[in-house]
Amino acid sequence: MMLAPMNAKYPTIIPTHPSTSPTRGLALFALALFPLLLACSDRTLQREGESELEWGERLFAHLGCVTCHSLSGAQLQGPVMGQAWLGEVPLRTGETAILDEDFVRRSISDPTAAVRQDFFPVMVPYLDLTEGQVDALVAFWREKSVVAEGADNE
Ligand code: HEC
Repeated sequence: MMLAPMNAKYPTIIPTHPSTSPTRGLALFALALFPLLLACSDRTLQREGESELEWGERLFAHLGCVTCHSLSGAQLQGPVMGQAWLGEVPLRTGETAILDEDFVRRSISDPTAAVRQDFFPVMVPYLDLTEGQVDALVAFWREKSVVAEGADNE
């Protein structure tokens, strides 16, 4: 059968049942491998001749922070990065915290200590990180923040 010229620019799509789709099978296989890969790649949590910021960025991706905190401004489960450094963080209790190193550090080790308003306390504490790893994550979070109005970001 000849394709009408109008259809010619579209790729032929062969519908398959989701459960029999080879892509889905592949995705499930990759998903099953993921924990194994993660366990084998622990080495990559160490600093490897990079700056602290680069290390922080790598940890941010590797530890999965990026699945809840987007770099792009997309609203995921957690607050977006890129808020005002030294700016106010509204908390569930009605109090406010200041976005500084102490706050970020505490948010990593004890996220439910000060839960941000309008967010669910779904973040698990990261307790196995070394001081250096936490410092690198804090440095990265700070780097991604913007300067608060009237605040000295130095
Ligand atoms: C399962 C999703 C999830 C993951 C993974 C996650 N977080 Fe969070 N995070 C949240 C949520 C939700 C909040 C807000 C609620 C709260 O304060 O506990 C939050 C709050 C924070 C805050 C406070 C920010 C603010 O504006 O209140 C920081 C800093 C933070 N996370 C850093 C991290 C880092 C660093 C990692 C990776 C080591 C990480 N998070 C992994 C969901 C997540």
